Amino acid sequence: MPELGLNIDHVATLRQARRTYEPDPVWAAVEGQLAGARVITLHLREDRRHVQDHDLERVAAVCQVRLNLEMAATEEMVGIACHAKPTMATLVPEGRLEITTEGGLDIVAQQRELAEAVGRLREAGVRPSAFVDPDIGQIQAAGAAGFEMCELHTGPYARAWHESGGLLDAPPVGLELERLRAAGDAVVGAGMRLNAGHALNYLNIGPVLAIPDLFELHIGHAIISRAVFVGIRQAVAEMVRLIEGR
Ligand code: PXP
Repeated sequence: MPELGLNIDHVATLRQARRTYEPDPVWAAVEGQLAGARVITLHLREDRRHVQDHDLERVAAVCQVRLNLEMAATEEMVGIACHAKPTMATLVPEGRLEITTEGGLDIVAQQRELAEAVGRLREAGVRPSAFVDPDIGQIQAAGAAGFEMCELHTGPYARAWHESGGLLDAPPVGLELERLRAAGDAVVGAGMRLNAGHALNYLNIGPVLAIPDLFELHIGHAIISRAVFVGIRQAVAEMVRLIEGR
């Protein structure tokens, strides 16, 4: 059964709207753990638009589950990760104009640079994960670069679901699911651990749970959106229940 990784970036986004001290992502990390999240994720972006450097330190101090630092594969970020030593670091492409991470990492195009970053992370005891599109070539390149895990980008699946009016059995949705399944097989076949995430929500997560060998599901936006109305602890608990099929 996969485990839930809770992304708490949006709590920091709300705080940064006022450049103030509340809501505190540390509180979200605590609430998330109390509700059953097994991973806490935060993305320290190069432009520091939401999570700040001190958040990483403070969240790490209260995190009793796995801590996942999402980051670009830059010199600065690799240095920060090696110093902070989260459980894992998920390398993502970062663009200043994007609203959120838009696509998977192009590992094929930068295999040598990524292999170097991966080597430094591993040496520091940080497990490297690659955020990738469900593309067999990219997955093979991830394995060759030394990544221990791949997180499959579920955004195209979620978009197909939305554009099909929320019909899980619509052909475009089935096609994207098939791509995810094949990519999942490739990840596991290459000896890496399989994670997935992006744009998953309470309504579209069902078929994703049927992908074999999934280890973690990384979800932020849908849970924090629901938390506005029901509170973080309940929103996380509801997602954990869905994942665990209760
Ligand atoms: N995985 C990665 C690599 C991401 O960049 C994000 C968004 O920060 C997520 C998962 C979570 O996506 P969402 O917020 O749409 O659930």
